[in-house]
Amino acid sequence: MTPDRTDALIERLASRSFAVEPDFLPGDLCADLQREAIALADDPIAIEAGVGRGEHHVKDEQIRRARIRWMDGATPAQVRLLAQADTLRVAINRRLFLGLFEFEAQLALTPVGGFYARHVDGFEGARNRVVSLVAYLDAGWRDSDGGALRVWPPEPRTADMPETIDIRPERGTLVLMLSESVPHEVLPSNRARASLAGWFRIRQ
Ligand code: OGA
Ligand code: MN
Repeated sequence: MTPDRTDALIERLASRSFAVEPDFLPGDLCADLQREAIALADDPIAIEAGVGRGEHHVKDEQIRRARIRWMDGATPAQVRLLAQADTLRVAINRRLFLGLFEFEAQLALTPVGGFYARHVDGFEGARNRVVSLVAYLDAGWRDSDGGALRVWPPEPRTADMPETIDIRPERGTLVLMLSESVPHEVLPSNRARASLAGWFRIRQ
């Protein structure tokens, strides 16, 4: 990842509130993380994804169907990913002065038929999640596999921008969004779908 490409990505995040970059993550890193995500199917520590945290955590199959596990740097691939995220964090702070302080991320395995209804990532009341990151791990994703990330670009939209944008979850693609202002959903997937989602946070 060249600094120029990273800067251009952050520039788009600043101007449009979200940005997409295909082939951002190296293929071998994605392959390693994909293996970890697929293993979530039989991982006793992985949890059925819910919405919200702590006492507000609800497991609602109407909202989301996926298995997730927090990334704690337990494998070389996770260490690599977290290092990439930290490089991004510093670059975003340099350009946007957001004071991003830490990054938390989870691996996700969305089963066949899984989805995630429209939501925003920032929790109401707490300005803790500021920038969201999503990355995709599966190679050879076709439109007919479903599972697109649908994004609603916030107002004001430029004239050339459609009301919704669908992003194919192809290996290596990275998405950045402002956590509180970009609604998005995962359309039903016809194929097991390996991804990771992370959040750059400010100090509470
Ligand atoms: C999330 C999320 C999108 C995706 O985990 O909050 O919106 O495409 N994920 O997996
Ligand atoms: Mn989300």
